[in-house]
Amino acid sequence: PSVSQNRKRAIVQRNIKENYMSATHFSHLFSEGQIGNFKVKNRIVMLPMARQFQGIDGEVTQKTIDYYVERARGGVGLITVGSTRVFPPGHKFYTPASLNIGDDRYLPGHCDLVQAIHTWGAKVAIQFGHIGGQTVHQSVAASDVQQFFCDGTAYCKPRPITKSEIYDMIELFGQGAVMAKKAGYDMVEIHAAHGYLLSGFLSPKLNLRTDEFGGILENRVRIIVELVRQIKHTAGTDFPVCVRISANDFIEGSIGIEESPNVAKILEQAGADVISVSAGNHETQHLSNDIMRLDEDFKRPLFEAVKKEINIPIIYTKYLNQ
Ligand SMILES: Cc1cc2nc3c(=O)[nH]c(=O)nc-3n(C[C@H](O)[C@H](O)[C@H](O)COP(=O)(O)O)c2cc1C
Repeated sequence: PSVSQNRKRAIVQRNIKENYMSATHFSHLFSEGQIGNFKVKNRIVMLPMARQFQGIDGEVTQKTIDYYVERARGGVGLITVGSTRVFPPGHKFYTPASLNIGDDRYLPGHCDLVQAIHTWGAKVAIQFGHIGGQTVHQSVAASDVQQFFCDGTAYCKPRPITKSEIYDMIELFGQGAVMAKKAGYDMVEIHAAHGYLLSGFLSPKLNLRTDEFGGILENRVRIIVELVRQIKHTAGTDFPVCVRISANDFIEGSIGIEESPNVAKILEQAGADVISVSAGNHETQHLSNDIMRLDEDFKRPLFEAVKKEINIPIIYTKYLNQ
């Protein structure tokens, strides 16, 4: 950009800061918040967004650091590092397609990332997840129910995850949390939204299991409860845990507003410190992210229904005109 373009941009940014984004216009948004044992300088959260900036085996790269630091520098209170794997190379659930924290070799990169974000006064959480049945590769899910993208494209039909794989995964989430704590992360977030593996357990449509992980709501939420407990067990009861859920899948017979507030309540009782309330899955993302309806604030009833049931804070999306 030319010098005059840069000057114009600086003036626009100053105007936004001074006239629009000022603390008087958004006094609550800019007030200090508290999640578990840590304070956040404001209530602006960068939601997890998995970007393909990782190294060849899922390491943190300079590009990963630059991406998050830019948001921390912009004033975000809490940054969430996008979906990260806890399965080390060689493990059957390992994939190089995501950031990884499942082995000592990843620790230095995460330490650098956390330190760089903290320098700007932001707190930082890391999200742990597993893709489940929303992939064109053979994978595992709660049950062998085929899932779809919103254009109708079918994903590869998954096989049901075995009980021993579930318990192994719970163990690895615990170890991942210890690694995250060592790296200096302020919180771990469990990705149980958007139709991926853990989200699928919550859905009566995707979870047809007849063991203790299927059936009534308490059983469908059990795997996430166990993950929360394991993280608290390994990383310490005061190490904060967030769970991200889709409060409505927008699919008849799947998880919806009738059950999701109870899911949040059960997770709070299990020790979760904050619930991140999202919506939809790959099949319905055109509904949950319907840009033509943003002005309606149409997801607000979901957030309110969940918040009503719990005493811990929630994280949710809003737009600056709402
Ligand atoms: C490029 C991209 C990557 C994303 N990666 C993740 C992710 O790793 N974990 C997650 O929970 N959500 C992810 N999301 C979803 C966003 O966090 C967010 O939920 C979504 O953009 C809209 O917000 P809402 O559905 O909560 O209202 C991603 C979104 C985008 C655009």
